[in-house]
Amino acid sequence: NSISLKQAYHADFLIGTALNAAQIEEKDSRAEQLISQQFNAITSENILKAVIVHPQWDRYNFTLGDKYVDYGERHHMFIVGHTLIWHRQLPGFVHRIRTKDSLNLFMKTHINAVAGRYKGRINGWDVLNEALNEDGTYRNSVFYRILGFDYIPYAFKLAELAAPGAELYYNDYNIEQPAKRAGAITLIKKIQETGARIDGVGIQGHWHVGKVPFKDIEESILQFAALGIKVMVTELDIEVLPRNSSEADVNQRMRSTPDTNPYTKRLPDSVQQQLASDYENLFKLFLKHRDKLSRVTFWGVNDGQSWLNNWPIMGRTNYPLIFDRQYKPKPAYDKIMSLKAQT
Ligand code: G3I
Repeated sequence: NSISLKQAYHADFLIGTALNAAQIEEKDSRAEQLISQQFNAITSENILKAVIVHPQWDRYNFTLGDKYVDYGERHHMFIVGHTLIWHRQLPGFVHRIRTKDSLNLFMKTHINAVAGRYKGRINGWDVLNEALNEDGTYRNSVFYRILGFDYIPYAFKLAELAAPGAELYYNDYNIEQPAKRAGAITLIKKIQETGARIDGVGIQGHWHVGKVPFKDIEESILQFAALGIKVMVTELDIEVLPRNSSEADVNQRMRSTPDTNPYTKRLPDSVQQQLASDYENLFKLFLKHRDKLSRVTFWGVNDGQSWLNNWPIMGRTNYPLIFDRQYKPKPAYDKIMSLKAQT
């Protein structure tokens, strides 16, 4: 009964969580205790994103990054760096770049500085994040607009040189969906054809209660693994609140309207049970394919720290994780644990 999540799944895959500055600097020792008991892998939720570590052309800020890597080493965890090349949370100067030469120079200096700083310490990098549209075509980011497809293998080449020994991943959401999945498979094959190295693909796993696409997830695990790379679930959470908004609508509402949240006081038991059963079925599936999955990482430690409390509207009360706001395990946690007790 005193065994933890990471111990229960020790022989199957790593169990990770995303950390922010708040958790690393948390004075409440219960937090660090729970994190180190339950998880053996960490991902930097925001700490290593370009806007934070590389705010200006010639200025870097590794204060939090260093604390993050120290934290992982102190607890003997598998340390993931998130993320080197992404179209969001980019410093303003990158959006003002207009020429191929300058953008190539940014990619090179950025990846050298960030991946290079933690060479031999960060074990895996989300080299490239969210480069695809829902229909599987390439996202028209600043990188794609100026450099075309070439920026993708270039990023992997640079990461390989800067951080030899680190695993290199492509990471995206909804890539279990057929059209986007096909795009991801093409993207990965094209990287492999250029001779650049890619070691794994991250299925982010931002799903919705009652609508988890189990079949697509299973097909994706099989098809990605067939490419000869590791497969992982990298940002797992299961949202319980309705979400039906266009991006414009969301931006509008974030500025003005307070949330109309049906579960502000507490999560109804029926939804709590549905959430637990979704997590149970997911982990059943993960266990079935444990020879192909190297890691399952939750996007946050407890419900109070989830990004979904602020998306698509600020200050929602959401319940997407397996620990509650008091760090207590939820029914979903018990279900995931009892799967292992039976085997
Ligand atoms: O740090 C500032 C704080 O000083 C300020 O007062 C506050 C006011 O808005 O904002 C804070 O920054 C926020 C930051 O999270 C830290 O909390 C940003 O506004 C907010 O945009 C940022 O959101 C992050 C989001 O990525 C940005 O795109 C989420 O925490 C993070 O969970 C989320 O993570 C992404 C992955 O990187 C990629 N996959 C999808 C996933 C979920 O969107």
